[in-house]
Amino acid sequence: MTDTTPQYDALMEVVRARGTSRAFKPGPEIPRAHFELILEAARHSPSGANAQPWHFIVVTEPGLKSEIADYFVSEQRFRAKQKMKFPTPDYRGIATAPGVIVVASDFRWTRAFPGFRDDGSELGEMYRENAERILLQSVAAATMSAHLAAAALGYQVWWITAIGQEKAQNALKPILGVPDEISILDIMCFGEPLKAPYTRWKKDIGDIVNWNRFDMDHFMTTGEIDEWIETRRHKVMYKDAENVD
Ligand SMILES: Cc1cc2nc3c(=O)[nH]c(=O)nc-3n(C[C@H](O)[C@H](O)[C@H](O)COP(=O)(O)O)c2cc1C
Repeated sequence: MTDTTPQYDALMEVVRARGTSRAFKPGPEIPRAHFELILEAARHSPSGANAQPWHFIVVTEPGLKSEIADYFVSEQRFRAKQKMKFPTPDYRGIATAPGVIVVASDFRWTRAFPGFRDDGSELGEMYRENAERILLQSVAAATMSAHLAAAALGYQVWWITAIGQEKAQNALKPILGVPDEISILDIMCFGEPLKAPYTRWKKDIGDIVNWNRFDMDHFMTTGEIDEWIETRRHKVMYKDAENVD
């Protein structure tokens, strides 16, 4: 085994401890200091142009959590009616999650990134795509730091992003008084899990790492990806790694 450092080991302990639960014990309440510790970790994250394009809304009022959960339950019903095959989880878990933090961003910060131009030109369009990627990666970096901090405090976490569509934005923003210019990107729930947590399947290191050039053994055809979705997706999302063949 390669030599590590105590800090690496401590980091990996937290990284491995982090895991998703989608239902939490309703109590005890999360101390305010824990929200602050979690968001202190987020605050130190890197971001494109150091723009720090993030806002965090800590939701503690049970009525607000229920309203958010209600939206997701209606979305769940809508997906079922549309016969979407995606294995949608039970979002009622949001209502009883002790910790709820809504992560938002202001896409006007894309103006801070390279090549931004507002003139409708092809060049502007090309760099708009780039700028949006920078913004989303920046907020994801901060969100991940927050998730790791929550894991370090002993909580299980739940990263919810099923809200990209305009309908979701229109439903959720008024609940939290979020202005039009700001987009809700994801919702972080955390707490003590209702059921024993389990470790999900992760790809082997050799399957994701390429040295110097892309290893074409790692390339999947669209058909192979579709097959994976059909046969494995539900297992890797909802089963213990040991039960995924
Ligand atoms: C960007 C991102 C989006 C996600 N969106 C959702 C979501 O909308 N709903 C949900 O139940 N889980 C969501 N998850 C949680 C994943 O399903 C979960 O991380 C994955 O199954 C791996 O499990 P693990 O977190 O226990 O390692 C999301 C995770 C990430 C990183």
